[in-house]
Formats: sequence, C-alpha cells, structure tokens
Amino acid sequence: MAEISRVGVLGAGLMGSGIAQVAAQAGLPTTVREVSDALCQRARNGVEKSLAKGIEKGKVTLEARDAALANLTFTTDLNALRDCDIVIEAVVEDIDVKNGLWRELDGLCPARTIFASNTSSLTIAAMAAATTRPDRMVGLHFFNPVPVMKLVEVVRTVTTSVPTFETTYEFARRLGKEPIRAKDNSGFVVNLLLVPYLLDALTQLERGVASVEDIDRGMQLGTRNLMVPFTLLDFGGLDSSD
Ligand code: CAA
Repeated sequence: MAEISRVGVLGAGLMGSGIAQVAAQAGLPTTVREVSDALCQRARNGVEKSLAKGIEKGKVTLEARDAALANLTFTTDLNALRDCDIVIEAVVEDIDVKNGLWRELDGLCPARTIFASNTSSLTIAAMAAATTRPDRMVGLHFFNPVPVMKLVEVVRTVTTSVPTFETTYEFARRLGKEPIRAKDNSGFVVNLLLVPYLLDALTQLERGVASVEDIDRGMQLGTRNLMVPFTLLDFGGLDSSD
C-alpha cells in the first residue's frame, strides 16, 4: 500500500481548514491552497481557534497544538501541492471549478498522487473523467466540524483502483477517523438520508404543520441521538411564531 507522507488541501473554508487541521494533528506536513492571502490568514486563524477550543475541552495539548501548527503551510500557489501524496479538494460545489483545478493538478503532480474530493453531492465519476488518472480518484467525505466528527465516507467510483481505495481508507484511519466504505452516488450514504430529512422539515414548516421550535423539540424528544433539523440547519435566529 502506498505511503501518504505529504498532504495537500485545496480550499480552506470550514471543511478544508478542518481537514488540514486533522492531517496536521496526525503529524503530516500539510499544504493548504486558497485563492488569496486574506483567505489563507482567515483559515489559519480558524485552525488556531479550533485548536484553542480543543485545548479548552482537554482534547489537545499545548505541544500537540504547536506541532500541528508547525505542520501547516498556507499558500496561494497551486504549484506548492505538486509533491503531495494525496490532494484533498474542498472547494465550492461546482463541477467546473473542481475539474479545472483537477486538470491543472493532473499536469503538476506525479502519477502516484491520489486525488480525493470532499464533495457532498457531486459524483466522483464526474471528476475522475476530467483527469488522466481515473484510477487515482476517490471520494473522502468529512463531516462538520471535522476535528470533532468521527465519520469519513470513503467513496469508490467504477474507475477507482483497489490500492487507491485501500490507501485512502487507511489514511482516514490515520487521521483518527472512523471510515465507512461507500459506492459512488450523489449523497453517498449519510447525505442521501439526511438531505431529504432536512428538506421534509422545511416542507413541514412551509405548510405550517408546526413551528421551528416545535419541530426540533418533537424530533429531540421523540427520537434519540439525532441532531434536530433546524438546529442542524442553523435556524436558531428565525422566529417562526408569526
Ligand atoms: N477540538 C476537539 N474536540 C472538541 C472540540 C475541538 N475544537 N470541540 C468540541 N470537542 C469535543 C468535546 O471535547 C466533546 O468530546 P467528548 O464527547 O469526548 O466529551 C465533544 O467534542 C462534544 O463537545 P461539546 O458538546 O462540549 O461541544 P460543543 O457544545 O461545542 O458542540 C458539537 C460541538 C458536538 C460538534 C455540536 O455542535 C454538534 O453536535 N454539532 C452538529 C454536528 C453534526 O451533526 N454534523 C453533521 C453535519 S452534516 C455534514 O457535515 C454533512 C456534509 O456533507 C457537510
């Protein structure tokens, strides 16, 4: 199985910076590419804040924080990802944007580099087809907030090779996650179930079945271990009593 010793992350929003943080915490030199210095700075600040919360919760030591930050490099230069063993993409959910970046990286990275997408709704096949390495394209879908959530869906499309899939699965374990295996389809396992549930909650609200507060309270009291829909959708500020 191929060794992953250098990680690249494309996009440093909430998901990308969380992914970069857990890779850096796992002791892997991690290069994160964003499109501007301001976004790089915002991402670094976000990682520092998350590590500080980890310290406050007793999950991260001061030494581990320092080691993680030392493993992180933020850059606007796509070339800086050329020596990575795996590149994880977490940019906007736009297939043209993603494939434009994959095509560029395909020309920069050596053949061994695995391309992994954190997409939640697009197919891995649609990205594999844009590169000359469809056997090295895989899905690696994290959950928000990445440093806290244990699950990662490792997604195999028809072209993904067994070594690519197994290396990526082991990589997810190395990040301290609990991976599950999924076939390529829009939504994979969790979002395929979760998104209709959230949409049905919105439909209930639109039809006036119940208020935001009552729908969430109903699900909270009537089921166990579910993050209730409007809390998950972050509707906290919405006053539905009108
Ligand atoms: N670093 C490390 N650990 C942390 C941490 C941090 N920054 N912040 C919290 N933790 C740990 C705590 O120590 C605690 O661990 P234990 O259970 O072992 O004690 C655990 O996380 C929960 O801690 P708290 O409840 O005190 O933390 P909180 O009040 O800040 O809540 C949360 C954090 C548990 C993540 C809560 O906000 C939550 O449950 N959010 C919803 C998460 C969720 O359902 N995500 C899925 C979204 S859907 C998705 O992601 C799909 C997609 O495609 C995008």
